[in-house]
Amino acid sequence: MQNQFDIAVIGAGAAGMMCAAVAGQRGKKVVLIDHATRLAEKIRISGGGRCNFTNLQAGPQHFVSNNPHFCRSALSRYTPQDFLSLVKRYRIAFHEKHKGQLFCDQSAEQIIDMLKAECEAGRVAWRTPCKVETIGKDGDRFRLDTNAGTIHAASVVIATGGLSIPKIGATDFAFRIAKQFGLKLVDPRPGLVPLTFDIATWEPFIPLSGIALEVDIETGEKKSRTHFREDLLFTHRGLSGPAVLQISSFWDSGKPIMLNLVPETDIAETLVQGKTTLKKNIGNLLPQWLPSRLAEGLLVANGIRPDARLADMPDKTLRRLGESINRWMIVPNGSEGYRKAEVTRGGVDTKELSQQTMMANKVPGLHFIGEAVDVTGWLGGYNFQWAWASGTAAGLSV
Ligand code: FDA
Repeated sequence: MQNQFDIAVIGAGAAGMMCAAVAGQRGKKVVLIDHATRLAEKIRISGGGRCNFTNLQAGPQHFVSNNPHFCRSALSRYTPQDFLSLVKRYRIAFHEKHKGQLFCDQSAEQIIDMLKAECEAGRVAWRTPCKVETIGKDGDRFRLDTNAGTIHAASVVIATGGLSIPKIGATDFAFRIAKQFGLKLVDPRPGLVPLTFDIATWEPFIPLSGIALEVDIETGEKKSRTHFREDLLFTHRGLSGPAVLQISSFWDSGKPIMLNLVPETDIAETLVQGKTTLKKNIGNLLPQWLPSRLAEGLLVANGIRPDARLADMPDKTLRRLGESINRWMIVPNGSEGYRKAEVTRGGVDTKELSQQTMMANKVPGLHFIGEAVDVTGWLGGYNFQWAWASGTAAGLSV
């Protein structure tokens, strides 16, 4: 019975390979299907080619979802230490870079090879490249019509990810299947993405492109304000860098973001107090806190001559300058979109799924895992940890 399986996993990315390997190693007959010719392209390009494969601190607080508690069960049953044990078993050298983020020393390919070997150990059957045209039901089994023939399976796991980076094979397959079976979606939007500004707002900042500095960044109303301290990068079209990627997953269209370009110093207070003691021009003072090019740009934006003597400057002008450095409010006009987004926010509504098994409550046998689900991690290895954990949750239950 060549095309009869216990489980058909669609999408051989991070979550799909993990799920197939776990289910296969439990003795289940598993087929893993992907439309791409190259497997797991997102793992390959992740972390600048070194794959930030987990984060030692990963917990439910590092995920964005309409139901922040949904991810708790899977994350606690498959932890960063569990994935790390697997990495160590395969003797893949790794290092911690920043805030618990673990990267391969050599190459993301090692993680792909490890997952492939885990699938081999579970005798997983591969169908790649293979396009699933339709999914239907024959009695209580699923029927998958593909361009390589029909496959029957007792359970189906949808692991086709989100919409980000269509040029390497992202599709809306998971969302179409969810809709077909009557499951609700939380509006998908680009996440972990650079933010853009209209031309008039951004023109004065274009010459600052390439400048990077550590900042505080926040967005949201008082009660639900989100804050990060990370590096900011000025680009030709707007703002990027970890600070902006992080805040983009919390930013709502039309709302401002607020930046503190010098988090440790109250610039207005320091300048006003220093009028009698700091005997310098303002243009010579600011570079002790800010990159010189950015300091010059901020003086121009505030209509202040760099050769103005601090002692001669009105307090009001200094307070305005301080405000633009410590509390810079700016409203993005959008983002760089799925072309550049590392993830998709939103997805299959978690209310539709069991948090233990990832199965759809009203469609027995149909599961959704990984990025297709409305669980989006912060930048820093959290999204892969969700892929491993949700893949394992489904792999253990199917
Ligand atoms: P994933 O996208 O990995 O896999 C989906 C699979 O489904 C693909 O193989 C695709 O070909 C297949 N597919 C899609 N549509 C299909 C269809 N219709 N039929 C059949 N197959 C289909 N995260 C992290 O934690 N650390 C990091 O370092 C990075 N770095 C990073 C860099 C860049 C540039 C991006 C774009 C993203 C990251 N991420 C990341 C995010 C991370 O890559 C992402 O969250 C996971 O890969 C999601 O895993 P999934 O298995 O859910 O989807």
